[in-house]
Amino acid sequence: MKAPFALGAAASLWALTTVRIIAQSQPVAGDPLPGITPAEFQEFRRGLEDFREIEVAEGGLGPLFNGTGCAVCHNVPAIGGGSPMTELRGGYRDETGKFRTVGGTTLFQMFSLPDHRCQAVIPAEANVVARRAPIPVFGSGLLEAVPDETLLALEDPFDRDRDGISGRAAVVVDKATGVRRVGRFGWKAQIATLLTFSGDAYTNEMGITNDVFPEEPHGGVAAARLRECDRVKDPEDLVDPRTGKRAIDNFEAFMKFLAPPPRGTITDEVRVGEQVFAEVGCTSCHTPVLMTGANPSAALNRKPLALFADLLLHELGTGDGIEQGAAEPDEIRTPALWGLRFRRPLLHDGSAATPAEAIRRHGGEAAGVVERFNRASEPMRRALLAFLDSL
Ligand code: HEC
Ligand code: HEC
Repeated sequence: MKAPFALGAAASLWALTTVRIIAQSQPVAGDPLPGITPAEFQEFRRGLEDFREIEVAEGGLGPLFNGTGCAVCHNVPAIGGGSPMTELRGGYRDETGKFRTVGGTTLFQMFSLPDHRCQAVIPAEANVVARRAPIPVFGSGLLEAVPDETLLALEDPFDRDRDGISGRAAVVVDKATGVRRVGRFGWKAQIATLLTFSGDAYTNEMGITNDVFPEEPHGGVAAARLRECDRVKDPEDLVDPRTGKRAIDNFEAFMKFLAPPPRGTITDEVRVGEQVFAEVGCTSCHTPVLMTGANPSAALNRKPLALFADLLLHELGTGDGIEQGAAEPDEIRTPALWGLRFRRPLLHDGSAATPAEAIRRHGGEAAGVVERFNRASEPMRRALLAFLDSL
C-alpha cells in the first residue's frame, strides 16, 4: 500500500536540479538515459519518487525487513547507487556437501517491527553465513535489454576453448512473466528482469508484498507467529488509481531509464591500462562492451553498454556457499565494472577494500589471468589500476 506522496519543497527543488542537469552537457551519476521521451521522463521521475520513499508499518513495511526504502541501500554516489551496508544470507551444508536451506529461506532480515516478536534469527544449525553488498542499479535498463542469445553465445560451460575459463549463463524462470530467461541481476544472476527484481526487493528487503512476490518473507519465523505480526492484508502494493501503476512498476521504470555512471578522466596512462586489462585477459570475463537488442524504447534500442562484464557465472574461489537461482554455491556473476570508482568496499560480500585487493582475491577460473597480471611490470600494473579508477 502506498502512503499518499506530496510533492514537497525537496521534490520541487529536485525537479529544478534535474532540469539544470539536463541542460548541462556533463552527465552525472543519477541522470536519466540520454534521449528518453518526455513520457519516459515522467515515468522515470515517478519511479524516482517511489524509490526514495520511506515506508511505514501502516503501508505494509515489515514485519521483517532490511531497509525502509530502496534508496536506503542504493544511494552512493547518487540515488540508484550502492552503499556500505551488507545483508545476511545463511544456509546449511550437509555431510554430503549438499546445500540446504534452514526453514525454507536463505535471507535473514536484520530488522523487525515492534514488538519484535517476529525478528529473524539465523538458526544454530546454519553452517553457512554470508554477507551481500548492494549492487548499483545505474544502467539497469540497458542490462535488461541485452538479448539472452548474446549471453548464451558468450558462455563456455565445458571450457571447450581450454583457457581455464568456463562462464555459464544462469537460466531461470522469470517470476513476473513465467518465461525462461537468462538471469543477469544479482550476485548470482538469479533474476532476469527489473519487474521481478522490484517485486523481490519490495517483499524481501522491505516486507511489502506484491503481485509478483505475494508472501511475506519469514526469515525462519514460524507461520502462526508471522500471521500475528502481519497486520496489513497481502498483497500490500496496490495499484495507485491516479496513475494506474503499482510501486513495483514505478521502481522498474526508474531503473529502466537510469543512465550508466559516466566515465572518469581518461589520461594516457588510463589508455595504456585498458590495453593491459585486455592483454592479461581480464576481458575474458569483464567483456568491455555488450549491445542491447531491438527495443521499443529508442533510448534502449541497439545501444552499446560499456559495462565490462559478461554477466555469466564463474568460480573464482570467492563463492559464498549459497545456492540461489541457477547458481551453484561457489559461483558468482561477473559484476559490471562501470562506476567502480564510486564503489567501496568491493566483491559480493564487501570483503575487498581496494581494486588491487579484489584482483588478488581472484582465483579458480581467473588464476591464470591473475598470474599474468602479477608478472606484468610495475608501470603496467599501475596503469591497469589507473584504468579501473577511471571507470
Ligand atoms: C537493505 C538494503 C536494500 C534495499 C532496501 C534494497 N536493496 Fe536492492 N540490493 C541490495 C543488495 C544487498 C543487492 C545484491 C543482492 C544479491 O544479489 O544478493 C541488491 C541488488 C539490487 C539489484 C540488482 C542490480 C544488478 O545489476 O544486479 C536491483 C535491480 C535492486 N537491488 C533493486 C532494488 C529495488 C527496486 C529496491 C526497493 C524496492 C531495493 N533494491 C531495495 C540491497 C538493498
Ligand atoms: C574468470 C572470470 C574473471 C576474470 C578472468 C577476471 N574477473 Fe574480475 N571478477 C569476476 C567475478 C565473478 C567477480 C565477482 C567476485 C566476487 O564478488 O566474489 C569479479 C570482481 C572483480 C572486481 C570487483 C568488482 C566489484 O564491483 O566488487 C574487480 C575490480 C575485478 N573483478 C577486476 C578484474 C581484473 C582487473 C581482472 C584481470 C586482472 C579480472 N577482474 C579478471 C570475474 C573475473
